[in-house]
Amino acid sequence: MFCSLFFVTSILGALLHGSHAATPLQSCPGYKASSVKYDENSLTADLSLAGEPCNTYGTDLGNLKLRVDYETDSRLHVMIYDANEEVYQVPNSIFPRPSAGQGSGAQNSKLKFDLKEDPFSFTVSRNDTGEVLFDTSSSNLVFQSQYLNLRTSLPKDPNLYGLGEHSDPLRLPTTNYTRTFWNRDAYGIPTGTNLYGDHPIYLDHREKSGTHAVLLLNSNGMDIKINKASNGSQYLEYNILGGVVDLYFFAGPTPKEVLKQYALVAGFPAMVSYWTFGFHQCRYGYLDIYEVAEVVYNYSQAQIPLETMWTDIDYMRARITFTTDPERFPVSKIRELVAYLHDHYQHYIMMVDPAMSVSDNGAFNRGQGAGIFMKNSNGSIYHGVVWPGVTAFPDWFNNDTQGWWNNEFNIFFSPDTGVDIDGLWIDMNEASQFCPFPCSDPAGWASANNFPPAPSPVTPNPRPLPGFPPDFQPSASAKFKRQASVNGQKIGLPGRDLLNPPYTINNAAGQLSNKAIDTNLIHAGDGYAEYDTHNLYGTMMSSSARIAMLQRRPTVRPLVITRSTFAGAGAHVGHWLGDNWSDWDHYRVSIPQMLAFASIFQVPMVGSDVCGFGKDTTENLCARWATLGAFYTFYRNHNELGSTPQEFYRWPTVAEAARKAIAIRYRLLDYIYTDFYRQSTTGEPFLQPLFYLYPQDNNTFPIDRQFFFGDAVLVSPVMDEGSTSVDAYFPDDIFYDWYTLAPVRGNGANMTLSNINITNIPLHIRGGTIIPTRASGANTTTELRKQNFNVIVAPGLDGTAVGSLYIDDGNSLEQSSTLEVDFKFENGQLDMRCGPYFDAGVVIETITVLGQETAPPGVKDGNNNSLDFQHDSSRKVVVVKVSIPFNGATTLSFA
Ligand code: GLC
Repeated sequence: MFCSLFFVTSILGALLHGSHAATPLQSCPGYKASSVKYDENSLTADLSLAGEPCNTYGTDLGNLKLRVDYETDSRLHVMIYDANEEVYQVPNSIFPRPSAGQGSGAQNSKLKFDLKEDPFSFTVSRNDTGEVLFDTSSSNLVFQSQYLNLRTSLPKDPNLYGLGEHSDPLRLPTTNYTRTFWNRDAYGIPTGTNLYGDHPIYLDHREKSGTHAVLLLNSNGMDIKINKASNGSQYLEYNILGGVVDLYFFAGPTPKEVLKQYALVAGFPAMVSYWTFGFHQCRYGYLDIYEVAEVVYNYSQAQIPLETMWTDIDYMRARITFTTDPERFPVSKIRELVAYLHDHYQHYIMMVDPAMSVSDNGAFNRGQGAGIFMKNSNGSIYHGVVWPGVTAFPDWFNNDTQGWWNNEFNIFFSPDTGVDIDGLWIDMNEASQFCPFPCSDPAGWASANNFPPAPSPVTPNPRPLPGFPPDFQPSASAKFKRQASVNGQKIGLPGRDLLNPPYTINNAAGQLSNKAIDTNLIHAGDGYAEYDTHNLYGTMMSSSARIAMLQRRPTVRPLVITRSTFAGAGAHVGHWLGDNWSDWDHYRVSIPQMLAFASIFQVPMVGSDVCGFGKDTTENLCARWATLGAFYTFYRNHNELGSTPQEFYRWPTVAEAARKAIAIRYRLLDYIYTDFYRQSTTGEPFLQPLFYLYPQDNNTFPIDRQFFFGDAVLVSPVMDEGSTSVDAYFPDDIFYDWYTLAPVRGNGANMTLSNINITNIPLHIRGGTIIPTRASGANTTTELRKQNFNVIVAPGLDGTAVGSLYIDDGNSLEQSSTLEVDFKFENGQLDMRCGPYFDAGVVIETITVLGQETAPPGVKDGNNNSLDFQHDSSRKVVVVKVSIPFNGATTLSFA
């Protein structure tokens, strides 16, 4: 019965296909709530279809359940799911949901849930002010086998942020705007399209009424539409290809509070090592290991600090993952280079793609033996076409995949016999492929670029495992097994059209499986469909990569940089923003893209390819980008095969810009590290749009060409080709020019900053902050840690300032001792408190207090000893030479 009904509805759906704008949804009956039960922390109800099914894009489900949990006082969880619990839900093993019931009850919650029974709709509002945050009453809920529709009304022209990954403005358009969620390989990262990752959370900033956020935890393909109805009312509408309504509401009420609340659900971002904030050089198209070594050498000759050298797929034999090219990148030579880098306190990172060439190679053969590749319905290995030609894709749901993967890491990245990497780069994990197998020219990708041709298509032939290491036992991977879902339920309704669903989302690649793994494949283990879990592939590979790095080096924080992400990925990995181009638009858009990841999605280790990936960069662009990139958290120059070489030493101005910008970044490295650590432990964002710090100043709401680097540094890059000025916004506050230290009184208006040399980037210190800086830069971050500190005190309009410093060994996952320093400046007195203890081996050698018109009568330490100081009346600064160790408490009075 179900099948035949489904057949009819899919035909109907197919007829409607592409014409869903003339929506038949208005005729959908919606649901009626009954058996509504309340208790202190939750509410449940039954929902039944309130009339004849409309079966627009699949079959209407007759019986649903509603469950609302007041999980904490600032977090509300609303779930609407099928009564039989068959419909797919994002597995807990991939997005571990926090447990419910920690709140102090609905009465005390900052959020309030109300429902209307017939037709069913609900609102979420603020308990104290009654402000309605979410209201579904303007249209009926549609819950079908292949389509969900839920609409919320919003205030007119709201300030909405998030819903990535995209390259649109940080503040989202509110008219006729569609955000599509379907991870894809998005060369050129075009605006208005779906890109590599999927973070269905939005922040709604309502000025005086506060900020809140809404996460829809759903990994199915979807279009979120933001628009105005014909009567002018504003709405946001979810159009989803499956799964359930799984909404988290975060009350805020400040942007920072929202982010902290979201981190409790998405997971705290992974802390990274100190060295990872150094400068990284990469490119696609280094011919051989000698050229890579030459780049390292040239950076050193040009005296541009290079912390980490990367190698792209060039090192592989015919681009086969877990192989090296014996001619161009022999392992012995790579090992020599890595040893050289390590001797010089530098680091090395390599790319690993998930798709494994099906040619006769160790990793594939072992994987085939372990049965870990995605399979067709007849049990044969599914084939795609990626860099090496015909490939197979690891199935991260398979219980044995992690064991196989760990083993490949142990072999290939063995510090003793393989390539001893310090970090990992994972790519193509949307998961993308070039064309469906068999394509007309699977080898074309490689041969077109004058590289050894990819192997011609082969039909894999199950065989014994040549070279299978005796210590490799799939069962040894038991501890890495993924948790099964409850009773094998919630894995997806049967009988759906998993390739061409009746509702079409706006996937820029076309149909769901275009340039991706076929969506009708079924994963191992519980049997999830790729249709439901496509958007999770990159994040599953990420967490598996983190585990593999950890089992290789269990005590150090792994650095894994991925292209594809899903909500929660930041707990495992960092992200680079994919294949941008070397043009000014991509330079500019890197700021809102980075801000979205770092300050909304909780993926704070993020940056775009500096100087641009595709196309040819120019000296002017690359110089400006070298300075902007120094204010990304992840700072890497990367370039495409065939594009003009763009290492920073290629042009004198770019070299100079890079040297200066890196020196500033390195002086700020402990400030970065401190705030990044704070984000990894509390969720409080390091990088911030201006409105996070000035939430009542509506001029800041659309700004995404300037940003705060931590609470203290306002970055206002030059935006245009050939320009030497920028119109920068300064809120009504006091700032200090980073270079001259002169006070700049902001008055809530733009100021034109001019004469900005091509090697400079405008930076201003925000009043009210204290920044611990290293006294000077260094060639590597290892040397940097030997530099003393210069503490900069930037009093706010009220004459006070605060700041902090966190120091640990910079690398270990578990720290045996750490140092936290709190600085406070008030009434002309600087207090510094340290605890617990870490021997940083350095002291504070200078304290610089900004904004001092006149010299203080004297500067005294806590024992009333007078200290030498200088007052510079032109710069209005007081500089005190000190030698303060990092222990105990210190007081300095400027009186
Ligand atoms: C993808 C990556 C890019 C990389 C290339 C070759 O396009 O996004 O960064 O250089 O593949 O591996």
